[in-house]
Amino acid sequence: MGRIPLEDPGVIYDLGCGSGNVARVLADRWPASSVVGVDNSPEMLAEAAETPSRVMWENGDLADWQPGSPPSILYSNAVIQWVPDHEELIPRLWSMLPAGGCLAVQAPMSWDMPSHNIMRETLSSGGKGGGPIGSAELREAVGNRWVQDPDFYYDLLAPQAAHLDVWTTEYQHVIAGDDAVLEWVTGTGLRPILNGLNDADREIYREEYRQRLNREYPRRPDGVTLYPFRRLFFVAVRR
Ligand SMILES: C[S@@+](CC[C@H](N)C(=O)[O-])C[C@H]1O[C@@H](n2cnc3c(N)ncnc32)[C@H](O)[C@@H]1O
Repeated sequence: MGRIPLEDPGVIYDLGCGSGNVARVLADRWPASSVVGVDNSPEMLAEAAETPSRVMWENGDLADWQPGSPPSILYSNAVIQWVPDHEELIPRLWSMLPAGGCLAVQAPMSWDMPSHNIMRETLSSGGKGGGPIGSAELREAVGNRWVQDPDFYYDLLAPQAAHLDVWTTEYQHVIAGDDAVLEWVTGTGLRPILNGLNDADREIYREEYRQRLNREYPRRPDGVTLYPFRRLFFVAVRR
């Protein structure tokens, strides 16, 4: 948000707003702008609406969402990793902006992190006698890489950009507790696998994955676990 170079934007959309934490900060940063939080989860939108604010909440799926008013900023934090086909998605969002409008995105670049390599490996070799777990369709879906490298987004945006900033940051998350990395990914990247397995396979998978993860991410001498996590950012202003 701090890298968006717009002084006085009109309508700001927070795409995949979740429970609205970031949308409310957008509204504070630009008090004269209209802010709309968009999400395809009615539960998330209901939670967002529980906290009083001037943000408006809208149910919409990024796969086919269209803005009700011309946007000045399209902002999306930790969402596009759930939306397929960025070659179609990013140019579509970009084309909604007028000259001077800004597309600002953050997404986890987790695909080739050890935790996610092990996630896929455990699906192909974590079963009895080193065999696969779950269906071939699940393995194929999980093998799909949705967030691309920075140069992919640069190439899509640069031809129409007046300003383009693309970067990655690797955070060292310091997490406490037993099976700290397993707990972390259970709420995010592991969800499609856990949802896609039957009860028996889920148990086998979880235990095998837990052991492999704990070998990859040992506890530090003070008891915490360090989990390096890379994130991609881009901020583009349209010409
Ligand atoms: C990790 S949360 C991020 C929430 C918020 N942006 C934040 O930074 O706190 C991801 C959100 O994206 C939403 N989401 C996932 N796929 C979506 C889609 N296709 N269209 C709209 N929202 C989507 C989820 O419902 C969830 O609220």
